[in-house]
Amino acid sequence: MCGIVGYVGERKAQDVLLKGLSRLEYRGYDSAGIAVLEARKINLIKRQGKLRILANVLKAGPAKGTVGIGHTRWATHGVPNDVNAHPHADCTGKIAIVHNGIIENYLDLKASLIKEGHKFRSKTDTEIIAHLIEKYYKGNLEQAVLKTVKLLKGSYAIAAIHANEPDKVVGARCDSPLIVGLGKGENFLASDVPAVLDYTKDVLYPDNHEIITITKTGAIVKNYTGRVVSKRPSRIKWDIKQAEKAGYEHFMLKEIYEQGDIVGGILDERLHDGKVLFEELNINQGAFKHFKKIVIVACGTAYHAGLTGKYMLEEYTHIPCWVDTSSEFRYRDPIVDKETLVIIISQSGETADSLAALREAKRKGARTLGICNVVGSSIAREADGVIYTHAGPEIAVASTKAYTAQLAILYLLTLYLARLKKTLPPSRISYLIKEFRKAPSLMEELLNEHKSEYNNIAAYAGEFKKYYHEKHNKSYFLYLGRNINYPNALEGALKLKEISYISAEGYPAGEMKHGPIALIDENPWVVCIVTQSKTYDKMLSNIQEIKARGGIVIAITTEGDKEILHHNVNYLIEVPKIDELFSPLLVVIPLQLLAYYVAKEFGYDIDQPRNLAKSVTVE
Ligand code: F6R
Repeated sequence: MCGIVGYVGERKAQDVLLKGLSRLEYRGYDSAGIAVLEARKINLIKRQGKLRILANVLKAGPAKGTVGIGHTRWATHGVPNDVNAHPHADCTGKIAIVHNGIIENYLDLKASLIKEGHKFRSKTDTEIIAHLIEKYYKGNLEQAVLKTVKLLKGSYAIAAIHANEPDKVVGARCDSPLIVGLGKGENFLASDVPAVLDYTKDVLYPDNHEIITITKTGAIVKNYTGRVVSKRPSRIKWDIKQAEKAGYEHFMLKEIYEQGDIVGGILDERLHDGKVLFEELNINQGAFKHFKKIVIVACGTAYHAGLTGKYMLEEYTHIPCWVDTSSEFRYRDPIVDKETLVIIISQSGETADSLAALREAKRKGARTLGICNVVGSSIAREADGVIYTHAGPEIAVASTKAYTAQLAILYLLTLYLARLKKTLPPSRISYLIKEFRKAPSLMEELLNEHKSEYNNIAAYAGEFKKYYHEKHNKSYFLYLGRNINYPNALEGALKLKEISYISAEGYPAGEMKHGPIALIDENPWVVCIVTQSKTYDKMLSNIQEIKARGGIVIAITTEGDKEILHHNVNYLIEVPKIDELFSPLLVVIPLQLLAYYVAKEFGYDIDQPRNLAKSVTVE
């Protein structure tokens, strides 16, 4: 949902801003722009379309200054075009600002500003910020920004420059992410760490309602009363190389292939002498023993991880657990109290609905635990406790490695609680840990040693495309699973639709007869998760029912399964054998690859699918 960058230093600001924006393009990519201070004037260049279009314009006519701001947009107010692209300027052209978020009271503020004589160019909510700063500017940009932000309702991370103060960038935040990068003789503002990692690993994390002024020599953070807030810099542990494609054609493919390593890393970090350790948890064991209910709240892929969590937590810890999407939870007066543990799962840690759900849970007295990937993100900081997934930066918009990392943490949390509450005998816990330890190498094996098998997935994708055209574009996908692999059916469908724009639905297979079976004719391709499990026979019956009605079946089975060969499925994809509990870690990989290859066959932009953005920081 938009990425912003600010730079003050000795380098050509244009280069730093473009590089930073390229690292933030996952946040939005319908237009981009920069504003650079040059000889007490602002040079503002912005274009509709991907960042490369702006980069080409700048190649032909470079901006020369060493101080500036930049923006990559995911449109909320106003269609994506050159005028609505950021940065936005005031009437005089001396002020430029970039913004990530939504200003909810912009219409009222705009009406007053128009009455006062301000001239607006765009249809955005953002432009009012530039005009308000103009209105309040009396020779001090920081003061003018401070007066402005106090009037804003909604969410924002902003960065502003003024031609009269060519040595600084001023930023502020409320409910949208903003970090400060601390360099030597240069400093940065950005929506996310990757934008500054080419230059520094030292960052500050401003809180809500803080204003930041960066110059070449430092960064000063103040609260909205104007008092300086001292912040200790954090050192980023990962490398910028992790945010690069490393020879893969797409980030999504790279991230799929990283999953074995990531799950292995999580186990090495958290499992010691057969015990699960969560160092940063901040909720003591006594409190954990007394939770009567667990509520998991999340969006999208993280919600699917949460649904899987329900299966394991209820079965192995005997604590009732329900799972809700954040946008529903936050508005429906949920019944949670101090005996409830509310777990918020979020890769970015910035998803607006999940953050609001977390606050609602806290307001009601529940203990809250974030499972987040981005260190220092809002959810990680506001929850009572946090467990980081440490999956490294996830750049592709379609989430893959964050999902398996979230699953890995949920498995560990289940084992941790089962030991604490003595709901499983130690011997069973030891067995499960032993099985879990097999998962990373099996994930690796599945991706590497099974190469030919997984090349078949690419071939199936090709066949689907042919079939789709033969059926006059009426073909689509259904995903069926049961029990702990039912959420994977939802996840497989989500992956496919978000990157290939083909209709796809996930269902618990047992629900087929209650409606969806009416859809079955020769059009749908039905992906059936039919790995070894207590519901294996039931899945076989579902396959029969689909085949009897002309549906095309892709079966995901356990290696060595002979029975499935008698069921006349059209395509077979095998995954290695592991205890059923951990099978979602393996099953999801072919689902991710199928989505990837279908999107590739159709020639779509896999890493930046239309209409989406990685981090949904607006409602
Ligand atoms: C799907 C996807 C989204 C996110 C969702 C939550 O591939 O990426 O559905 O999972 O927007 O995002 P986080 O986990 O950052 O809260």
